[in-house]
Amino acid sequence: MTRLAIIAERAVDETRVAATPDTVKKFVGQGLEVVVESGAGKGAAMSDADYEAAGAKLVPDARSALSDADLLLKVRPVLADEAAALKSGACVVALLNPYGERAALEVLAARGVTAFSMEFVPRITRAQVMDALSSQANLAGYRAVIEAAEVYGRAFPMMMTAAGAIAPAKVFVMGAGVAGLQAIATARRLGAVVTATDVRPAAKEQVESLGAKFIAVEDEEFKAAETAAGYAKPMSAAYQAKQAELVGEHIKKQDIVITTALIPGRPAPRLVSEAQVLSMREGSVLVDLAVEQGGNVEGVNPGQITRLGGATVVGLMNLPGRVAADASSLYARNLQAFVALLFDKDGALAPDLEDEILKASLVARGGAICHPSLIAG
Ligand SMILES: NC(=O)c1ccc[n+]([C@@H]2O[C@H](COP(=O)([O-])OP(=O)(O)OC[C@H]3O[C@@H](n4cnc5c(N)ncnc54)[C@H](O)[C@@H]3O)[C@@H](O)[C@H]2O)c1
Repeated sequence: MTRLAIIAERAVDETRVAATPDTVKKFVGQGLEVVVESGAGKGAAMSDADYEAAGAKLVPDARSALSDADLLLKVRPVLADEAAALKSGACVVALLNPYGERAALEVLAARGVTAFSMEFVPRITRAQVMDALSSQANLAGYRAVIEAAEVYGRAFPMMMTAAGAIAPAKVFVMGAGVAGLQAIATARRLGAVVTATDVRPAAKEQVESLGAKFIAVEDEEFKAAETAAGYAKPMSAAYQAKQAELVGEHIKKQDIVITTALIPGRPAPRLVSEAQVLSMREGSVLVDLAVEQGGNVEGVNPGQITRLGGATVVGLMNLPGRVAADASSLYARNLQAFVALLFDKDGALAPDLEDEILKASLVARGGAICHPSLIAG
């Protein structure tokens, strides 16, 4: 019988969990033995009793869950002692952060496991249900606006009262991918006046369809700024200078700036300079969703909320983890769909590495890192 392990996440401030009682029930129904470390779901409001009722076997620690596991599902990269407890040949599926946490991946690879990184699931139609980057980014975008509203000392919507009118908050969203679009929608729902920018031309229509105004340097470079995979390309220094000028003028008039710009496999582009932060008025707020990749805002402090001039710069990390129950539910369903690909039609754990999705997300096998983007040369 295939043994699937779920353990508590040990990364600081990680509240999510890789399986919910609901997905455990489905795995058990498919004939898997599911072993869950006691307390694994605590941060996401999922109790041991619920996992047990779903058919999981509860064990007191990670070591007991990992010994003899054929398949390990995680949120974060596998720690060295967790890797050491795995048997060679086991499969691991997680958000392995292969560019950012290469050393952890090397340790895992050396253990001889077959590891898949959810970040590398291709964005094709068949894999949409497995798209963990999108499921988590969507909640991060929502949560960024909630964090901004918490810090902002004023209301978001326009209010007409007997004692006078309150002007609506002006929110500027930089980067209109999955997280940025959800931030726009959330800020609009709260009644803010929203503008947004991106370097991909396709973003313009999406921004406008959400009722926000699109602001960008729309030159020839902009028209070609999207890769075949739908991601942004790094922009030239000349483009960035034009963008900085446009943004500089706009930012001065904003109450809240939410930055979400990323380039896969590279440090986040720097979009807001310290001088621009200092140009903002007293009480303004910036939330930098790219802080874990180096940040879009100059002076952002990872994990901290700091003051810079009159502005507050929010550098909280792991925003999906601040909506842990929903983030875990969506991620667990992403994993459940992915795991189905690892079994053959007789129900044996035998990943077909020629499958397009598995091939793209396989990062380690047979003792070595094997993903083309992670091998030097
Ligand atoms: N299954 C699918 O087909 C699928 C699923 C999810 C997303 N997508 C698409 O993939 C694309 C990327 O989405 P994502 O959320 O993963 O992006 P991401 O997280 O990689 O980046 C966030 C946003 O930042 C933007 N950006 C990068 N550099 C910038 C700069 N200098 N200035 C301003 N903005 C900048 C990017 O264009 C992107 O929109 C989008 O087109 C999205 O619609 C497709």
